[in-house]
Amino acid sequence: MLKDRTVVLGVTGSIAAYKAAEIASQLTQSGAIVNVVMTEGATQFISPLTFRALTGRPVVTEMFDVTSEYSVEHVSLARSADIVVVAPATANAIAKLAAGIADDMLCCTVLATRAPVIVAPAMETNMYENPITQDNLSELKERGFVIVGPAAGWLASGREGPGRLADISDVVGTVRRVLGKQGDLAGKHIVVSAGGTQEPIDPVRCIVNRSSGKMGYALAEAAIERGAKVSLITAPVSLGIPIGADAMSVRTADEMRQALESLVPTADAVIMAAAVADYRPKNLAREKMKKRAGGIKLELESTPDIIGNLKGDFVKIGFAAETTNMVENATQKLKEKRLDLIVANDVTAADSGFGTDTNRVTIIDSQGAVEALPVLTKRQVAEKVLDRVVTLLTKTES
Ligand code: PMT
Repeated sequence: MLKDRTVVLGVTGSIAAYKAAEIASQLTQSGAIVNVVMTEGATQFISPLTFRALTGRPVVTEMFDVTSEYSVEHVSLARSADIVVVAPATANAIAKLAAGIADDMLCCTVLATRAPVIVAPAMETNMYENPITQDNLSELKERGFVIVGPAAGWLASGREGPGRLADISDVVGTVRRVLGKQGDLAGKHIVVSAGGTQEPIDPVRCIVNRSSGKMGYALAEAAIERGAKVSLITAPVSLGIPIGADAMSVRTADEMRQALESLVPTADAVIMAAAVADYRPKNLAREKMKKRAGGIKLELESTPDIIGNLKGDFVKIGFAAETTNMVENATQKLKEKRLDLIVANDVTAADSGFGTDTNRVTIIDSQGAVEALPVLTKRQVAEKVLDRVVTLLTKTES
């Protein structure tokens, strides 16, 4: 999504200006062309050379620079931009943007661009809470600017409160989400399940599996970047919710079923990457079970098949975690659960399946066509699965 997209990163004179270096670095590493514009105040906090080194691009610091590669600088920058990000944005910068004052290169560029503009405020709490700043932010929102943050926490003034620059992952995530609005899943509602469900035995113990949620979260992130509205139903995992996802946290298979049933009426596609428990204890002990010599017997009952019982007019995609006869077993699940597609993963390989960053998958469709993919990152697998979703949705629409 960010590859070859041009981001104009405006940096203003806040102590948080040093964090803009990490934003520039992450955007550049994701393949974006990052043109940094610094206000004079920003140059007091961080050197233009830092951005030059991180982006490999000239950094604009002056309104009139005869050595610049741009002809009419603010117009060229503004036209080249797929998106403009002002991070950090001081109260002063926000006031100038709200009033349309064009007395520095950054404000001129923002006024001259047709690209979406993201503003990430960073300032002392009182300045942020001041009604003048709040009015200016409302004015920007009304005009279609996307405001990200601020976060609350420790501030350079020594006080705690709202005013910290939003987390870098939030700023970069918002860039991805806003750019994604032009993607091939724009306007679609994709429901993704992730993680391993937990079935309680007693108040402290449960039956779990080794799903980390990485595959499901990669799908959610990729779908957001392609413009989808994403509902992420997540079993307990230790990953941050992707920016822009509507997340519902669940624990058991039954909670996951209920969450999915509530969402499918508006879904265009459901992708079940979660590892759902097939069995749960038949009786839940009310008190913590005591240790007994000779062990205990647990009676298990089947959980309902979630994806197989979801009713509605949407694309249904399942995953199959297999240790043997991958294609045969996965094909059987595809048929039993009446899926459009099943993504079979070999969970015996060290670089595939539970907890890994990569996956070896074979995609099987309802006509029986089999596509074996090489080892890919889970994000790459997600893109391949979403390519199929786009094709399936196009077919159902035509
Ligand atoms: O989370 P990670 O660490 O990244 O690992 C990813 C993964 C290996 C968990 C993922 O890629 C994967 O394979 N998920 C499905 C695992 C699984 O439960 O497979 P299954 O063969 O038991 O189930 C087949 C399909 O039916 C799955 O889409 C599953 O979500 C669904 N199912 C299963 C049981 C049940 N009661 N209801 C269901 O809907």
